[in-house]
Amino acid sequence: MEVKTSLLDNMIGVGDMVLLEPLSEDSFLENLKNRFDHNEIYTYIGSVVISMNPYRSLPIYTPDKVEEYRNRNFYELSPHIYALADEAYRSLRDQDKDQCILITGESGAGKTEASKLVMSYVAAVCGRGQEVNKVKEQLLQSNPVLEAFGNAKTVRNDNSSRFGKYMDIEFDFKGDPLGGVISNYLLEKSRVVKQPRGERNFHVFYQLLSGASDDTLKKLKLDRDFSKYNYLSLDSAAVNGLDDAANFRTVRNAMQIVGFMEDEVQSVLELVAAVLKLGNIEFKPESRCNGSDESRIKDKNDLKEMCELLGTEQSVLERAFSYRTVEAKMEKVSTTLNVAQAYYARDALAKNLYSRLFSWLVTRINESIKAQGKTRHKVMGVLDIYGFEIFEDNSFEQFIINYCNEKLQQIFIELTLREEQEEYIREGIEWTNIEYFNNAVICDLIENNQNGILAMLDEECLRPGTVTDETFLDKLNTICAEHQHFESRLSKNSKFLTDHSLPHNCFRIQHYAGKVLYRVEGFVDKNNDLLYRDLSQAMFKANHSLIKQLFPEGNPTKVNLKRPPTAGSQFRASVGTLMRNLQTKNPNYIRCIKPNDKKASHIFTDSLVRHQLRYLGLMENVRVRRAGYAFRQPYEPCLERYKMLCKKTWPHWRGPAREGVEVLMADLQVPAEEFSYGRSKIFIRNPRMLFSLEERRRQCLQDLATLIQKIYRGWKCRRQFLLLKKSQIVVAAWYRRYAQQKKYQQIKSATTVVQSYTRGWQARKLLRELKHQKKCEEAVTTIAAFWHGTQARRELRKLKEEARRKHAVAVIWAYWQGLKVRREYRKFFRANAGKKIYDFTIQRIMQKYFLGLKSSMPSMSPVDKNWPARPYRFLDGVHSELRRIFHLWRCKKYRGQFTEEKKAVYEEKLEASEIFKDKKALYASSVSQPFKGDYVEISKNPKYQKLNSAVVEKVLLADVVNKINRANGKGTARIFLLTKKSVVLADQKTGQVKASVPLPDLSSVSVSTQSDGFFALRLKEGSASAVKGDFLLSSEHLIEIITKLHRIGTTAADRDQINIDISDEFLVQFKQDKVCVKFIQGAPKNGNSVSCKRKNNRLLEVSVPTTA
Ligand SMILES: Nc1ncnc2c1ncn2[C@@H]1O[C@H](COP(=O)(O)OP(=O)(O)OP(=O)(O)O)[C@@H](O)[C@H]1O
Ligand SMILES: [Mg+2]
Repeated sequence: MEVKTSLLDNMIGVGDMVLLEPLSEDSFLENLKNRFDHNEIYTYIGSVVISMNPYRSLPIYTPDKVEEYRNRNFYELSPHIYALADEAYRSLRDQDKDQCILITGESGAGKTEASKLVMSYVAAVCGRGQEVNKVKEQLLQSNPVLEAFGNAKTVRNDNSSRFGKYMDIEFDFKGDPLGGVISNYLLEKSRVVKQPRGERNFHVFYQLLSGASDDTLKKLKLDRDFSKYNYLSLDSAAVNGLDDAANFRTVRNAMQIVGFMEDEVQSVLELVAAVLKLGNIEFKPESRCNGSDESRIKDKNDLKEMCELLGTEQSVLERAFSYRTVEAKMEKVSTTLNVAQAYYARDALAKNLYSRLFSWLVTRINESIKAQGKTRHKVMGVLDIYGFEIFEDNSFEQFIINYCNEKLQQIFIELTLREEQEEYIREGIEWTNIEYFNNAVICDLIENNQNGILAMLDEECLRPGTVTDETFLDKLNTICAEHQHFESRLSKNSKFLTDHSLPHNCFRIQHYAGKVLYRVEGFVDKNNDLLYRDLSQAMFKANHSLIKQLFPEGNPTKVNLKRPPTAGSQFRASVGTLMRNLQTKNPNYIRCIKPNDKKASHIFTDSLVRHQLRYLGLMENVRVRRAGYAFRQPYEPCLERYKMLCKKTWPHWRGPAREGVEVLMADLQVPAEEFSYGRSKIFIRNPRMLFSLEERRRQCLQDLATLIQKIYRGWKCRRQFLLLKKSQIVVAAWYRRYAQQKKYQQIKSATTVVQSYTRGWQARKLLRELKHQKKCEEAVTTIAAFWHGTQARRELRKLKEEARRKHAVAVIWAYWQGLKVRREYRKFFRANAGKKIYDFTIQRIMQKYFLGLKSSMPSMSPVDKNWPARPYRFLDGVHSELRRIFHLWRCKKYRGQFTEEKKAVYEEKLEASEIFKDKKALYASSVSQPFKGDYVEISKNPKYQKLNSAVVEKVLLADVVNKINRANGKGTARIFLLTKKSVVLADQKTGQVKASVPLPDLSSVSVSTQSDGFFALRLKEGSASAVKGDFLLSSEHLIEIITKLHRIGTTAADRDQINIDISDEFLVQFKQDKVCVKFIQGAPKNGNSVSCKRKNNRLLEVSVPTTA
């Protein structure tokens, strides 16, 4: 929601002086001071803006501020120059009304700054686009150029405008700027040649000398040192806070933006340099033969350089400074100039040169910023003219300046009143005449065509005969003596005869802004503004395009003998044009006030401000504004602002705003004379009334705030309460639930207890009953059982009796029948019938036996021990015989499958079994091992090639055995070869035969009963092999070796069978000794292996681990 603010909100003092109560000069001043102290430099008088110069930059011109004031109503926000600029721009754009912004105030009050602020605001809020921006930039950049050439430091203002400026900014129908036209008024050209104490010449001279490059200065034949130039005042050449060099660059840049060509800039600078050079030309008197004094130029160097700059002939200019030619009716009269006249001519040339250059600059800028197209443009004029000046020594310039200010004051009064009047008419309000001081009478004193001061000055200037400033004053004394605003010592008005504050060579005018004393000296000359024709012609002859343009009257072909219009009449005419121009436009006023004379911030000098507000007629302004109605406001904002004061209009008024306001006023019982209803606005006569409304509003706002607060607080409390209530309900619900749950659980457990007791009691009761019942039933059952038992036994006995009887009957009957049958059939049976039956029965039984045996035969495996059980005892013998036969038969079948080799193997195995079974513990482990015979494969191993060739017969067994050393019982690996004829022992590594024993030399072999592999080969005593003694060997394949040795003995017909001696103690013949080898069973040692130890000379003990 947009927040509606008003000028009346957050006011410091009173924002609009019209509302000041009570209205007096003191309260006016106090209000201004109060606001100034709070940095509120702008205050309104109705639609007029009073601007106090803050002399420091305030943060109130930011882009944000521009946005804040953009498109807002004038009174909507606190007073600001932007509000005025916005109002003017919007009326121009939206209502097609040409505007003018009149900025007045004394020197240093801030007019130029205000005009720039207005222009920058308008530039910021108007349209955008490349072309538009260029125009804006050119318009804004015209300021630094004109300020450099037209502003100077004065005692009042470091940047004082020494010319009047009126700038028309032209806009198209959309409000986009198209261009502009600048008019300049009366440059204070006397400053070029002479500056009052503490002041400077125009800025451009200092800027050029400080800021131009050495090269430029050389071209312009200038020296950077200010002191070298007579026209430059030296005591204040450097100004605090003014950087001339930087400003020079700004000006050059601005000239470029505005559209000056490089050669134009150069020409301008040449002219500026020429003026400086001109000031340095000095004259000396030279007596002529006719006795008169003639002037001569002292040092021609400066003249020479100046002539070079301007392209003039030195001699021409030199002559122009020495002679004056007067032409009258085809006659030319030349008179010499004395030194004073020569200086006058020099200064006149300098002033003219500079002021014409300035006018040319304005024209040139106008050319650049001129709006294109011929359609009618909307125009906003900004007038920044020099302020009212009262110096100690006031001359023609001040007179002209103050005349201009009088005119502006008049137009201000006229337009303000007219506008006021127009508004009343527009709004249909009755117009009451307002008394105010009209300065028309002062304007008339100055500008009246017949007896005005300017007219008389012109008359004096044009009059033939001796004309001096004194003759002019005399004239004034006679003609204006009666005028109430004219004062002079020598006037016919006797009341000033003794007024010593009025010197004889002065006259005083009571301006609207105060009395000003003018010294008449120089009035005539300045009004004449005479430049000797010789000089203008010399200038025209110059070979410099710009100079030529500036002095058109020097053209000898267009000699105009008519006197040029005087400065005064020119100014009057241009002011007249300006006033007419302004009258066609809607005026907007900015009244600038200077708070102090020290150019200092925060200082408010009461007397100075009081003086300004007097001469600016601000009090009158307020009075005029208040004479009718002090305050007016359109109905809608008025209703919006005060609607809370009446119940009928609060909070909303649905009807038209005016009716709402009427209802409001009636309700508030505002006396009818205090206000009037216009067509669109309500007019409030007295500020008191407005303030009482404001006070009531404030009160009401407080009440409303209290009400809102109350309602809000009520709402907040209620909300809080409802929330609490809701929470309480929730809490209560939870609590109740919890309590009920707890209670329920208690009841439940109590119930359960009671129930369990009850049930227990009931159950016990029931149990008792059931037990009783059961007991009864059991008793009954027992009784019944007994009874039934009794009955059953009785029955059984009966039945048994009956059955016995029946059986007895049946047996008796069977016997009887048998007897009967036998008796009957005896004759049919033979005597051997009994035997036959017996045989048949036996046969039948045997058949059944064999068939049963057939179906339950065991498998064909010889080791299968199964055999069906015998069915009848009498078949006992048959059954075991059959079993034996079957076993033999299946063994035969099994053997029948064997090949010859396998048969041999089995035979060997069988033989081994015969030798060792149940005799040596090692045997059992050998049963499952097949007898491979060759464990060494000497034929395949090239290592044993020699051994292979040494053994001729077929090797039946080859194995690695350990030959036990008889000395220590340790074993040495040997290859053991068994052939049909011998036993060979060879080295395991080399295959070298160590011993070869022919089998016939072997007497027996001794082995132990244990699981060891030791065997002793015992040799026949007396044989060749027995020399070395018996062999004690050990082999893993002991059973196979012995079996094979035994077999060779069995199969060889030519040899005795080798004895196998199985015993745990046997004797071995070692060379001469007989050693007993004893086998003992010991605990497993060294990984369960057999160990052999020599115990003594006669005993070798072999410890064999106990077999499990
Ligand atoms: N609104 C402002 N904010 C800050 N400083 C300001 C403002 N207005 C004026 N000034 C200061 O006051 C000085 C004088 O202002 P300005 O040149 O506008 O005066 P003026 O009324 O144009 O005087 P003159 O009649 O001599 O030309 C400025 O140079 C500037 O320093
Ligand atoms: Mg100024």
